[in-house]
Amino acid sequence: MRVMQFPQALETALQTLERMRNESAHRPCASRSALDALNQIAPVRENLLEDHAPSATRKQNEGASSSKNDLGVDNAAPSKAGKIDKLAAVQARVSVCTKCPNLASSRTQTVFGVGNPDAEIMFIGEAPGADEDAQGEPFVGRAGQLLTKIIKAMGFAREDVYIANILKCRPDVPAGSFGNRAPTTREMQTCRPYLMEQIGIIRPKVIVALGAVAVEGLLGTRAPMRDLRGRWDLFNGTPLMVTYHPAYLLRNQSPLEKRKVWEDMMQVLDRLEKPISEKQRNYFL
Ligand code: URA
Repeated sequence: MRVMQFPQALETALQTLERMRNESAHRPCASRSALDALNQIAPVRENLLEDHAPSATRKQNEGASSSKNDLGVDNAAPSKAGKIDKLAAVQARVSVCTKCPNLASSRTQTVFGVGNPDAEIMFIGEAPGADEDAQGEPFVGRAGQLLTKIIKAMGFAREDVYIANILKCRPDVPAGSFGNRAPTTREMQTCRPYLMEQIGIIRPKVIVALGAVAVEGLLGTRAPMRDLRGRWDLFNGTPLMVTYHPAYLLRNQSPLEKRKVWEDMMQVLDRLEKPISEKQRNYFL
């Protein structure tokens, strides 16, 4: 296939799959790895489409130097402004998403993600709770305050990192009931492409998966957290550290458990080649 035809061909393939999914009794099937591969192309696809876009659209991405490889794909690091635009475009789609009709009708608003589009670290949680649903920002409730404390102890501001969830909608709970419900596997799979796009745009150096739901949503792995945490995995080539969800630490105030999360975060700092002070080494959350 000639490079000039690639964006149109990809667009046509995606439109056909969408149409089959919406109109046909025989829904297209694809393995998780095939979907991941397609979603990895998404940022590339946007780059290629921009090359064919009117100059006004291209101008938005000025600031990134353009060194193209043989396929015509931009090798240069995308500019922060370009990332902001791309995230805003995904966020606009998420804000009107109705793929899970039950969540679309129960949510106050979608909760996309927050932070630095150029972040080195991306923290990924489970799903918005009541506070996040009300405020439209992830991790703003009690668990979020603890996450912010962890981020600060690492030497970052909340604005330095990027925070998102597997689900962009609060899982619905029966009227009048309290608490949260865990996302279903189907809901996670439905929402996953949005997160893939976020990761593809931000390109963090490290991903931190907070809790078992985040691990399942990202890696498809189900196992007890005590077996998963503190280990490096790879998510499409990006190092991924698994640690406990801050809500677990709120339920279990044992200093031992807090220390485990802190040790996981020190591994993250090491990986990013950030200096760790003596005070940080001895820190208990
Ligand atoms: N828990 C999560 O996993 N995400 C949030 O945004 C808030 C609480």
